[in-house]
Amino acid sequence: MTLIKCKQITKHYYRGSEQITPLKGLDLEIQRGSFVALMGPSGSGKTTLLNLLAGIDTVSEGELIIDNEQIHNFSKNKLASWRADHIGYIFQLYNLVPVLTAYENVEIPLLLHSINRNERHERVSDALENVGIADRYNHYPRQLSGGQEQRVAIARAIVSNPTILLADEPTGDLDRETGTAIMDLLKSLQEKQGQTIVMVTHDPQTTKWADTVLHLEKGQLIEQEVRS
Ligand SMILES: Nc1ncnc2c1ncn2[C@@H]1O[C@H](COP(=O)(O)OP(=O)(O)OP(=O)(O)O)[C@@H](O)[C@H]1O
Ligand SMILES: [Mg+2]
Repeated sequence: MTLIKCKQITKHYYRGSEQITPLKGLDLEIQRGSFVALMGPSGSGKTTLLNLLAGIDTVSEGELIIDNEQIHNFSKNKLASWRADHIGYIFQLYNLVPVLTAYENVEIPLLLHSINRNERHERVSDALENVGIADRYNHYPRQLSGGQEQRVAIARAIVSNPTILLADEPTGDLDRETGTAIMDLLKSLQEKQGQTIVMVTHDPQTTKWADTVLHLEKGQLIEQEVRS
């Protein structure tokens, strides 16, 4: 079943009088429950596309339909609350808040929802458990390894049970072994919880966890590989 549909999406940015168009009439469909690897040269529009799917940025032209909702028609406010309900985002450099513990970092997205303290506690504990780091709940980011920090960042991204998990080079800053463990973790979220994942990667090796590989070039989809 189609979860994400991009119809002729174009994105323009303006720098002074200069117009930059990182996405040009992009057509794309992503199935619910799939694990998509998004590849392409630097500047091909991968992060731009991820930010559109996340509702962090808005399309200039075209239609973006996610879970039967016309995201391209949403106001800024509507987009912000939609994002809190539907999107988990994992960054290459974790982006944890340094003065908060692992537990408090994971709790942040839930503070945007009206959830009482007990349920929050349960959800945060489950998420930390799920990523295999429950024993480090009261550690600060500087007391964690890169791989552990990324696990906390993944827990933070999944704690509100998002429709889509987006990841921009989630293993880009990790050594091979730690990166493999993180990829196994993402795969298990797809397999055990049916999580839909869209991951940007530069590393062809990490695409072996994905079931769909998309290649972008100059803001267009040039190849789509679906694996069984
Ligand atoms: N907020 C912005 N304002 C102006 N230009 C932007 C903005 N965001 C991205 N761009 C431009 O859009 C183009 C595509 O950028 P994008 O970040 O999507 O590339 P990418 O495929 O993610 O590259 P990389 O692999 O290096 O991360 C680039 O030329 C970039 O400079
Ligand atoms: Mg990028």
